[in-house]
Amino acid sequence: MSHDFVPVQWNRQKYIYDALLLAGTFIFLASFMVLGMRAQAADMSILMIRAFGSCAIVLLHIILFIGPLARLSDRFKPLLYNRRHFGVITAIIALLHGAFALMWYHGFGTINPIASALGGYGDYGTAIEFPFESLGLIALIILLIMAATSHDFWLSRLTPPMWKSLHMSVYFAYAALVGHVALGAAQFDKGWGLFIALAIGALLLSLLHVAAILKGRGLDKDVLAQSVWINVGAPLSIPMNKAITVTPPSGERIAIFRHAKGISAIVAVCSHQNGPLGEGCIRDGLVTCPWHGFQFDPETGAAPPPFTDRVQTHKIIIEKGDVWVNTTPDILGTTRLAVQVKS
Ligand code: HEM
Ligand code: FES
Repeated sequence: MSHDFVPVQWNRQKYIYDALLLAGTFIFLASFMVLGMRAQAADMSILMIRAFGSCAIVLLHIILFIGPLARLSDRFKPLLYNRRHFGVITAIIALLHGAFALMWYHGFGTINPIASALGGYGDYGTAIEFPFESLGLIALIILLIMAATSHDFWLSRLTPPMWKSLHMSVYFAYAALVGHVALGAAQFDKGWGLFIALAIGALLLSLLHVAAILKGRGLDKDVLAQSVWINVGAPLSIPMNKAITVTPPSGERIAIFRHAKGISAIVAVCSHQNGPLGEGCIRDGLVTCPWHGFQFDPETGAAPPPFTDRVQTHKIIIEKGDVWVNTTPDILGTTRLAVQVKS
């Protein structure tokens, strides 16, 4: 973590980000309602249910777009920093949709609304009577758990790897929602509009993720030695104050930085939320994570005091004009002085 970066406190940038997010959400909901009323598509209650549902799924798509976009271009990284705010708003809007839908479509029968949505009157064996609301309910529970655990408190409580695994279930929620909306559209006989919108969303998401994966591979230098040492290439091929990332045959990726003191290597996974340190830069002599700005000394892997975060270092040598990195990470806390580059 850095001295001047306080991730959980409010600053001007966060206020602007949230103001834009709330304004965008409000404009979407208001436009949906106004256009729906003008077209006399349905009565107010149903329009409201549809407006909240559509808004939540659009927000979810934006959330899922942000990750790969930020990997493809630095311009999108500011969106990534406060992505959790997107998640919380999405969960709240989805909750409003789900709660109103439960009341409106399941609140007047003889059985409990949740039991009714889970299949009280439906049949899981047929597509046309499949209780599609159950899929929405599963997704809603996942979104709410993610929103509730999005704070840094839960990140440190659960540990970053477990927190990340939990938050990867957003893809499961997304799949459940595709089923929820598609089956709902079929059962309510809504025509092809929603199917086409879902297909475009899924296609864009897949393309972006594939492009980001391909770019990530491009960042990796060829692993010349499949053993303990990897040849990274000439020292000057590493851009000043930036890194080249290599993937060892096993273990975490390694980021090799060139900075004012020379060349250093650290594990490329941020101790905060597993952010890609190899895509960060050196600021004030410290490796700065591109996601939330945590900083680490390239020679010790330690965050500057008073912070206590750490990442592992790796041994570097320069042999016959090439930089070589040892693929076995050092014990946490090991200092590796930067290897100087002769010009
Ligand atoms: C308790 C959970 C949920 C219930 C009971 C529920 C129920 C419903 C119902 C009854 C409809 C059909 C509404 C109509 O066309 O009149 C619907 C549609 C929809 N739902 Fe849900 N839902 C739930 C969760 C979710 C969640 C979590 C999302 C998104 C994040 C979502 C997104 C949508 C969308 C996009 C539609 C289509 C809206 C439209 O036709 O314009 N639902 N849902
Ligand atoms: S600072 Fe949050 S992941 Fe690195």
